[in-house]
Amino acid sequence: MINYTEKIPNNVDLGRDRVLQRALEHWQPAYMGWWYDMGPDESHNYEVYLRTAISVEPDGWAQFGYVKMPDYRWGIFLQPRDEKREVNFGAHKGQAAWQEVPGEYRSILRRIIVTQGDTEPASVEQQRMLGASCPSMYDLRNIFQVNVEEGRHLWAMVYLLHRYFGRDGREEAESLLARRSGDTDNPRILGAFNEPTPDWLAFYMFTFFTDRDGKFQLCALAESGFDPLSRTCRFMLTEEAHHMFVGETGVSRIIQRSCEVMKEHKLDDPSDVRALGVIDLQTIQKYLNFHYSVTLDLYGSDVSSNAANYFTSGLKGRFRETKLEDDHVLSEAEYPVFEVVDGKILAKTVPALTALNERLRDDYIEEIADGVARWQRVIDNAGVPFRLTLPHKGFHREIGNFAGHFISPQGEVLSEESWKKRESQWLPTPEDHAFVQSLMSGRVVEPGKFANWIAPPARGVNNQPLNFEYVRFH
Ligand SMILES: [Fe+2]
Ligand SMILES: [Fe+2]
Repeated sequence: MINYTEKIPNNVDLGRDRVLQRALEHWQPAYMGWWYDMGPDESHNYEVYLRTAISVEPDGWAQFGYVKMPDYRWGIFLQPRDEKREVNFGAHKGQAAWQEVPGEYRSILRRIIVTQGDTEPASVEQQRMLGASCPSMYDLRNIFQVNVEEGRHLWAMVYLLHRYFGRDGREEAESLLARRSGDTDNPRILGAFNEPTPDWLAFYMFTFFTDRDGKFQLCALAESGFDPLSRTCRFMLTEEAHHMFVGETGVSRIIQRSCEVMKEHKLDDPSDVRALGVIDLQTIQKYLNFHYSVTLDLYGSDVSSNAANYFTSGLKGRFRETKLEDDHVLSEAEYPVFEVVDGKILAKTVPALTALNERLRDDYIEEIADGVARWQRVIDNAGVPFRLTLPHKGFHREIGNFAGHFISPQGEVLSEESWKKRESQWLPTPEDHAFVQSLMSGRVVEPGKFANWIAPPARGVNNQPLNFEYVRFH
């Protein structure tokens, strides 16, 4: 038997769990095959200055050093167990938290874990070609860090499948390596994870908007009465924070650079801005509109009996469930959702239990709005008269009450024809993509150098200077 304890840092007593060891003997080589095929293109021999989690202690979590990514030590970590933890919401509120899967919830719990797990390799697939056009060595290192951590998140979900779901868990774990982002025959489960991430502006938007959906889903699952899922998600959240940091600062640095050029040359016409090799703010707004709207769909239907079941069963809570001051059962509570009636958007009160998707989406929107306000400050500080706005939540939606309706970013209900006529002002066009990609035709990898279209970050990784050699190519 292979000694996985050495290869795989863990706090799940892997060395003594023969069932898990046997499952990993099949899955680990398949995972490596997937990484070689679908991980970052042409990166296998690079030595990358990465952070590796080797324990859940604060200092064990941030070990930095050069690693070839195929040798990255994908670990299995759960937040330490709280012996007194209870199920904190739903019909089982007050019971001791479950350490094994409750039989009656087995299939929905497996579905929840598979759906979360599927997003992790999907984003690695979506981003695999971006190394060839990176704006700096610093950014190249950051995308690789995000990619190995998404790989680890897959490991985290596969651990749960292997450890708690027997043979069907093993089959699901294999399917997680078989689906492919954007594939027509065997796509990833959720829509946004089948969209291409064709350039670095899209990558930063994705990590700001879509990794933050990951955060909110993980927060809801961290409340789960199934304790191993809760503890797994709590540890994953520590990594998600870095992904969102990469996204927020990436977009912020692009905005900063565009504003600098606009001020220096005293111009604001988008085509003049583009002519100087930076991205005009109008195009940034369009990318924002796209990534925001496709990510809102990930929360699912506004009114959902599945969401109600997940909650009542104690499997998936609300954002910060235990901090909320109500009965945590929600049998009487109500919540507003929106629907389009006779060409108007109207609020409608529904049982709160059925509106939990919408509620999580609203919590997400609140946090997104704060981030967009921080981007706005960069524009304001530069003295550029431009306002970035979040579109109406009904804009460009394919799931929920707004699906099939044509809502403008300002929230007007339009006919399909008039919406389509203005679509090119709201969402990136093929020309916009071509322009952005024209700026990113090659990679910038001289230590300390940055592409013209992006400002350097405020500081380097782990207190290293900006001209540190974050990636060694050989
Ligand atoms: Fe993740
Ligand atoms: Fe992430």
